[in-house]
Amino acid sequence: MLGSGKGSNFVAIAGACAAGTVAAEVALVVSDVAEAGILARARERSIPARFLPPGKFRTKLDEEAERNYIAALRAADVDLVVLAGFMRVLKDSFLQAFAGRIVNIHPSLLPSFPGLAAWEQALAHGVRVTGCTVHFVDVGVDSGPIIGQQTVLVLDDDTTETLHQRIHAAEHALYPRCVAALARGEVTIRGRRVVWRAA
Ligand code: GAR
Repeated sequence: MLGSGKGSNFVAIAGACAAGTVAAEVALVVSDVAEAGILARARERSIPARFLPPGKFRTKLDEEAERNYIAALRAADVDLVVLAGFMRVLKDSFLQAFAGRIVNIHPSLLPSFPGLAAWEQALAHGVRVTGCTVHFVDVGVDSGPIIGQQTVLVLDDDTTETLHQRIHAAEHALYPRCVAALARGEVTIRGRRVVWRAA
């Protein structure tokens, strides 16, 4: 799992793995932020956790960093790369190294509100329904085939904080369900669409 923030989605998925509802284990957590909560949450659970410097760019990994990330994930022998609040765009060479095996969670109903602070975008736009999306990662930003979505109603008195909180709660339910289906081999990509079928 890769993350830059507090790691609540990591906690939800690692908890589901420990409880046996996700038939997988988190082999490694990597962050581009040394003090990220996700690293502390992983270490509390004795899950290997590494800070890998992102290099000289602000929104992506530089070439050396990318090589280090790929090497670390390969050394941990991962089957799936799960992005959980990883705030850098992954470039083609990274995507090719784990082709069709990188998933992300985004705090809106894509294709609405890609990019940063999606809950703020939703509130500013005045939509009545938003939510979260789990999708495969492709070369675009938040544009890959959609695996699962969960809706969240926007309330009249919502602030960015209250809306973000409810979207987070929806993420913690949706992401483990999607990873469980991926681990069971029930999810396949068909062009732009993703099909769920019991293995
Ligand atoms: C989540 O809300 C996730 O959807 C968002 O970062 C948060 C991470 O929270 N990701 C993005 O905005 C990616 N574009 P967490 O660190 O508590 O899991």
